[in-house]
Formats: sequence, structure tokens, C-alpha cells
Amino acid sequence: MEGPRVAIIGTGQMGSAAARRLAGLGYSIILWNRTRSKAERLASSIGARVASTLEEAVGYAEYGLVFLLDDDSLAWLAATLPRSDGLVLVNHSTNTPRMSVAAARRLEGLGVCYVEAPVIGGPSALEEGRAKVLVAGEDRCIRRAASLLRDLAGSTVKTGPLGSAMAAKLAYNMVIMTSLAVLGEAVLLAESHGVGLGLLGEVLEGTPLEELSKYLARVAGVEDPGGARMHIAAKDLEHAGRALYDSGIPGPVSAAAGNLYRMGLAGGCGGYYYGATSRILRGCRQEE
Ligand SMILES: NC(=O)c1ccc[n+]([C@@H]2O[C@H](COP(=O)([O-])OP(=O)(O)OC[C@H]3O[C@@H](n4cnc5c(N)ncnc54)[C@H](OP(=O)(O)O)[C@@H]3O)[C@@H](O)[C@H]2O)c1
Repeated sequence: MEGPRVAIIGTGQMGSAAARRLAGLGYSIILWNRTRSKAERLASSIGARVASTLEEAVGYAEYGLVFLLDDDSLAWLAATLPRSDGLVLVNHSTNTPRMSVAAARRLEGLGVCYVEAPVIGGPSALEEGRAKVLVAGEDRCIRRAASLLRDLAGSTVKTGPLGSAMAAKLAYNMVIMTSLAVLGEAVLLAESHGVGLGLLGEVLEGTPLEELSKYLARVAGVEDPGGARMHIAAKDLEHAGRALYDSGIPGPVSAAAGNLYRMGLAGGCGGYYYGATSRILRGCRQEE
């Protein structure tokens, strides 16, 4: 028997992980990606169909799951999607609250039930059903997405009206991404005085900062845990800056961290795990 029909819109790291998970649970998957060849590679490994157009993808599906990069791509989706009465569109991308709310308004006019559902956790967590999903929107739409969210997420947190899940997700990312930026500087300071990663780990042991120990090798760029690349951190902190601006709040600390990640992109660190912040400061091109 055919399982629920799902269109995965965007088959990057996260969309691919969701597709693999849901295909494994018996969902019928159709994939749409801007660069079709990437969707084709994934489709053949999970037995999914590939849509040539967005219209074909949402025409087939009961649910659309969005895993696009940023606000520009969400704006494009909302402007391009055809009338889709009855479609439940769950947006798992990380966007600004303002763009998510604007997209929801436009999509409502197309007969779509929109749910805001950004993800905490990387592609492995998502594929293994361990990711946390923050959920916001109208109750009638959240109810319609509930069984799918149960299958996809390890846990869900309802944050309130539209915009609130994106705000909570950006707030979370500001803390982790800004923390890793300063940890990268701290690792270099320690190293320049002969205090290596192992010794620094011992210094952190038993202190309130002990949890940061697992990131030491990652910020130094000697361990790559997979997951988000540098462009995601640069984008998330840029979006956080826009959201702060919209609320009239200055964001000097997260803006400085955002500049570091942008420096990483410009300096050839684009392919690295986003948190390889000491590596950005040492210069990725020199090390290659
Ligand atoms: N990676 C993580 O660990 C992680 C964790 C939590 C949340 N997220 C969020 O999840 C979302 C997806 O992240 P990801 O890691 O999967 O990113 P990714 O691997 O870079 O994939 C980005 C996807 O967006 C598409 N895209 C980019 N710009 C587009 C545009 N202008 N129009 C249409 N499609 C466009 C890409 O298509 P092409 O293939 O054609 O480039 C690709 O399918 C992001 O919002 C990210 O912040 C990521």
C-alpha cells in the first residue's frame, strides 16, 4: 500500500536526510531541487520520483517539506508556487520571522496550510529521528502536520504564533555560532602559549564550560563532525541580524561572529564544518 505522499523541496544536506528517513518509514517521496541532478542521485538511492517542476511536485503530494537555504529562496518559493488547495507545507528551513510570516500570508491565498518548523540538529540527527523541531502556526495546520512531524522529529516544541519558531531557532543559533567563534580565538591564544587542545580540555573539566570540550578539536579544524557548512553559519547570523534590526535591537556580538564566518567563506573555508573557527583565523587557503 502506498504511504502518505510527500514532496521534498530542496535536496541539500537536510532535505536529503529527511527524504531518506521518510522513505525508510514507507512514505511515497517526490523530490524537487533547483539543481535536478542532485535530486536524481538521491532518488535512485531511496526509490523516489523526481519532479521536473515545482507544480508537478506539489500536485502529487499531500505534504510539502521545505529545506531551502535562506529568505531569498523562501520568497522565490512563495512567489512561484501554483494554487495548491489542501497542501500542508511544512517549512523546515531557517528563515527570519518576517519572511516566514510574509510567505505564510501569500501561501494562505493559494489554499496552502503553512507550518513553520525549523530544525535543531544536523542531517544525521534528522535522518536518525533525533532532531528537535520547533513548531509555530495555526493549530488547524499544525494538527494536519502532526503525524508527519512525529515520524520526522525526535521531539517537538510548540513556540506560539507564526514567526516565533524562527525567532527561537535564530536565537539558539546565535548562541552556538557566536560561542564557537570566540572559542576559536581562545584555542589560538592558548596554543600560542604552548597550551594545546588536550591541556585546554583539562582546564575546562569540572567547570561550567566543560560542555565546550567536545568542540575543541572541531574549532581547531582537526575533527569534522559532518553537518552544516560555513555558508549556513554566515547566512544564519546575517538572518539573525535582520531579525534583531526588525525588532530595533542592536546585535554587535552576533554581527562580529557573522563577519568571521563570512571571512571564512571569502578565505576558502566554504567546504569546512561551520564551527572550524580557528581554521578561519589561521587562513584556510594557506593550509591547503
Ligand atoms: N545543515 C544543517 O546542519 C542544518 C541544521 C539545521 C537547519 N538547517 C537549515 O536547513 C536549511 C537547508 O540547509 P542545508 O544544510 O540542507 O543546506 P544546503 O545543503 O546548502 O542546501 C540548500 C538547498 O537550498 C537550495 N537553494 C539555495 N538557494 C536557492 C534558491 N535561490 N532557489 C531555490 N533553491 C535554492 C539548494 O539547491 P541547489 O542544490 O540547486 O543549490 C539546496 O537544495 C537551511 O535553511 C539551514 O539553515 C541546516
